[in-house]
Amino acid sequence: SQLWRSHGPSMLMSVRQDHLHPWQGILAADESRPNKTCGARLKSIGVENTEENVHSSRSCVHRTWLQRGNILGVIMYEETLYQKDKNGKPFVQIINEAGAVAGVKVDTGIAPLPGADDEGYTMGLDGLRERCQEYYRQGARFAKWRAVLRIDSKGLPSDRSILANATGLAQYAAICQECGLVPIVEPEILMDGDHDIETAAAAAERVLVAVYDALATQGVLLEGTLLKPNMVTPGVDSGIKATPETLPIFTCALLATVPAAVAGISFLSGGSSEEDASLNLNAINAIPYERKPWALTFSFGRALQASTLKTWGGKDENIARLRRCSLSVPSQWPGKYQGSGQA
Ligand code: 13P
Repeated sequence: SQLWRSHGPSMLMSVRQDHLHPWQGILAADESRPNKTCGARLKSIGVENTEENVHSSRSCVHRTWLQRGNILGVIMYEETLYQKDKNGKPFVQIINEAGAVAGVKVDTGIAPLPGADDEGYTMGLDGLRERCQEYYRQGARFAKWRAVLRIDSKGLPSDRSILANATGLAQYAAICQECGLVPIVEPEILMDGDHDIETAAAAAERVLVAVYDALATQGVLLEGTLLKPNMVTPGVDSGIKATPETLPIFTCALLATVPAAVAGISFLSGGSSEEDASLNLNAINAIPYERKPWALTFSFGRALQASTLKTWGGKDENIARLRRCSLSVPSQWPGKYQGSGQA
């Protein structure tokens, strides 16, 4: 296709599978400001949600993780793409000098889905082409768009919400590719609820089938995309905890809906603790399931940032401590991987 001729080779260079390993992934540091996401993160560590504190926290998270050598890309909130750290160095340059790629969240949040019962769709398509062109000029090479779906006992996510969100993701992905950005396709199904893991797997299957149908309809080059799904877990209110035994089986079975052409799958952490998210990713990679043609890695937000932010605690003098400590990454990660050779 025209798209492939114009952008395919450069996009494939950005997402070559041999660049992706389970212990090398993406840092999601794109919490929206000034709305509640940034505020909630800072509040949890007793720090006020001011512009300066947000800037310092982002600087701290970037530096802490980039120097560890396992971050291939950083997803930024739009304003960070234009900002410099306290020494006057642009964040994009810091990321690139660490051998990583700068990315940007391009959606503009969630709105209520008309006629639906407490479901939403993701906004941001208006003017997206022009914004993506500008982000590319500013140094971004990949983008993220988060669709949010939820499960309830009455059968949500609804077909209407699945279709609306899948279509939005596909239109976003097509525009990104036109502008030379690799789209991360993120259909997040929230952990909220008291459902069991089978219900979560069934919902995820419905969503992913619709997403790949929509991506095909919009002519998106799958080789130049990454999928960012949630791991398949029981609802947080179910009283059942996903274990490294059950979670990978359901998650890997679900991945049968993902075409082999997709360059990589980088899981979100969705509110799991740092340790749980890491152990679960390790278990997913270790499962002896031969049909895993993609790199299976991470694109964690909370599960990379929680300890870092807690140790920083709003005081830049604590950043030196972060350079020394090993945070709470469990010893298994990065560790020995068994199984299908995906590691
Ligand atoms: P979490 O890993 O905290 O879910 O965040 C990842 C993300 O980018 C959500 O859009």
